[in-house]
Amino acid sequence: MTSTDRYAVFGHPIKHSKSPRIHTIFAEQTGQTLVYSAQDVPAEHFQAAVAQFFAGGGKGLNCTVPLKELAWAYADAKTERAHTAKAVNTLALQADGSVLGDNTDGIGLVTDLTVNHGVTLARCRILILGAGGASRGIITPILEQSPTTIVIANRTIAKAIDLAVEFQGKGCIEGCGFDDLKSKQFDLIINATSSSLSGQLPPLPDELLAQNGVCYDLAYSNEATVFVRWGQEKQAQKSLDGLGMLVEQAAEAFFIWRGIRPET
Ligand code: ATR
Repeated sequence: MTSTDRYAVFGHPIKHSKSPRIHTIFAEQTGQTLVYSAQDVPAEHFQAAVAQFFAGGGKGLNCTVPLKELAWAYADAKTERAHTAKAVNTLALQADGSVLGDNTDGIGLVTDLTVNHGVTLARCRILILGAGGASRGIITPILEQSPTTIVIANRTIAKAIDLAVEFQGKGCIEGCGFDDLKSKQFDLIINATSSSLSGQLPPLPDELLAQNGVCYDLAYSNEATVFVRWGQEKQAQKSLDGLGMLVEQAAEAFFIWRGIRPET
């Protein structure tokens, strides 16, 4: 008996996840037969839940907050971008029964910026706000676009410096605090702090965004986030939230699992 291929997103909380809807649309669009569900999995149940999912015939998983580091540790093998991100958002069952871990977040961001919004990252001065897991996940794919510089600014300065040091040698990258941003200007500012959804904004100088600069919030919400509004106030050429990145990271995961690229 052949059963329908099963996929799922694990996270905690997971109720508001858009992933089941996105993947169901991708499957319809590409004529693929699969089911994709959302499962609330607290960190302490992660290992058992993943093992059970794959033992029960599951083919692939997305993992979201707070499970990406656990997924990284779970994977038998990892792609280079997942390895440097130290986080995995996509697990794929391989033919030999092993589980491959990948991270499609960064490439999702780059695709949304460059393909969907026509933003050129080469020779771009880029500021990343925040030095947590979300920042780490996007650095390698951005560096591959050859920006002039990446500055990581964080409330806890040491974390920004440590993160930058990890990627030194792969491009021009430095870490600093928010106070060090005075008199600096950037063509692209990416908000990767977790403060946006609680309506808080790091302290940012008025002149931080260059003329025709672009703002991108990794978070998304039904209304404009506080950072998207900041970009609009500063006359950003575009001030975007992370919905496009969500769809693009899903498309990349779909490609890993099914070998076919959906129209995003
Ligand atoms: P994630 O995986 O979403 O990146 P994280 O690893 O907990 O989550 O990192 C959260 C990031 O948002 C950190 O850079 C954090 O700054 P600190 O390292 O100083 O804690 C940043 N952040 C959270 N709340 C913030 C706030 N109110 N103002 C500025 N930065 C904030």
